[in-house]
Amino acid sequence: MQTLFQDFRMPSNLRFGVGALATLPEEVKQWGATKIGLVSDRGLEKAGLVGRVVELLGSLSIPIVTFTEIAGEPTFRLVEQAVNHFKREQCDLVIGIGGGSALDVAKTTASLLDKSDLDPYLRRNEKIEIRKIPCILLPTTSGTGSEVTMNAIFGDEEQELKRGIVSPVLLPDLAIIDPELTLSCPPRVTASSGIDAFTHAIESYISVRATPLTKIYAEKAMKQFPHHITKAVHHGANLEARTGMCWVSTLAGVTLANAGVGAVHALAYPLGGKFHIEHGIANALLMPYVFQVIGTTCIQEMVDVAAFLQLGDYHQKPSEALNAVVDYFYQLLKQLDLPSSLAQLEVDEQSLPVLANQASKIDRLLNNTPYYLNERKILQIYQKAFRGEL
Ligand SMILES: NC(=O)c1ccc[n+]([C@@H]2O[C@H](COP(=O)([O-])OP(=O)(O)OC[C@H]3O[C@@H](n4cnc5c(N)ncnc54)[C@H](O)[C@@H]3O)[C@@H](O)[C@H]2O)c1
Repeated sequence: MQTLFQDFRMPSNLRFGVGALATLPEEVKQWGATKIGLVSDRGLEKAGLVGRVVELLGSLSIPIVTFTEIAGEPTFRLVEQAVNHFKREQCDLVIGIGGGSALDVAKTTASLLDKSDLDPYLRRNEKIEIRKIPCILLPTTSGTGSEVTMNAIFGDEEQELKRGIVSPVLLPDLAIIDPELTLSCPPRVTASSGIDAFTHAIESYISVRATPLTKIYAEKAMKQFPHHITKAVHHGANLEARTGMCWVSTLAGVTLANAGVGAVHALAYPLGGKFHIEHGIANALLMPYVFQVIGTTCIQEMVDVAAFLQLGDYHQKPSEALNAVVDYFYQLLKQLDLPSSLAQLEVDEQSLPVLANQASKIDRLLNNTPYYLNERKILQIYQKAFRGEL
């Protein structure tokens, strides 16, 4: 009989706190880098955060090469560009600052910088076994948890699909989570990435790979969420709410990394691949529709989640807990000015069967969910989400 062991992985160091960015130069010094590769995106450059990091590192007199070509969610081709750019410049340390898009590029670039042929790792599912280049990640959204996960997600241009690469080497040497870096995050990104973080927590809580350890992180993330999400979206300068949401995404990222996510993500990926709908928006929109179906197989967990969200005590009437949870998220989309139907996102109805077919093949995620969603069921969920009716 095969024995299944369960690992629990985190970055080597996770530094959390307001003002923690200021410690970056002393950390960089310890690695003895001779040239730094800094990955970010155009939005972050505009918001002044790239300039702030460059200025801060200026005290070290180590040359810095930037890669800020990311506009929208990244593709394999973009990673190849970043790797080639830093190879030419002989960078020997990679820093990523940004949301999940920039961080996924940064950690993958660090992991591939010493490899000559990238194709097997990016497009042919070969696992990256070793990362030689140190990597430091600084999140500016509270959502994806990329700074604490072993995953990186990219668009595959040829196949119009989003695909994940997974390896423990994608965990950085250091994650610096400074809530001040999220203060300038726009309301729509704050809202969608915040619900994305909750999706990580709830999906990993019901995952077939969940353990008592991962459930502790998921529970804490879900309990914190309702106290901070609305304030963080509508009062972006509220540092307490931003700090709260940073804890939500960190806790949720750790549980995602170790228990995995499931059907919501599986249905969200094709929307990203074909219609370029942002990851957070797709997850937030699909969550109530997907849970309405899969939640029926985990009623006890739905009673727990309703309690974590302070929606009431459903122990005596467990079958009602699922409705309460689903309705909370459906209403939250409206409160946070997020789309609640695929039609609003201009997804065309004829494409739904194609999307369902693509989603039904994402076994890596579907197999984590304790409800087997076949293609027909997936199509029904997309159809409901298209109309925006629960
Ligand atoms: N690696 C993982 O474990 C993991 C998990 C979930 C999602 N993802 C991936 O992460 C990506 C989504 O990341 P995201 O939701 O964090 O958004 P993002 O990184 O795509 O950023 C969205 C927009 O917000 C802007 N922005 C971010 N922070 C800002 C700030 N503080 N101030 C001003 N503007 C700011 C960016 O410039 C960008 O325009 C997707 O590609 C998704 O597939 C990865």
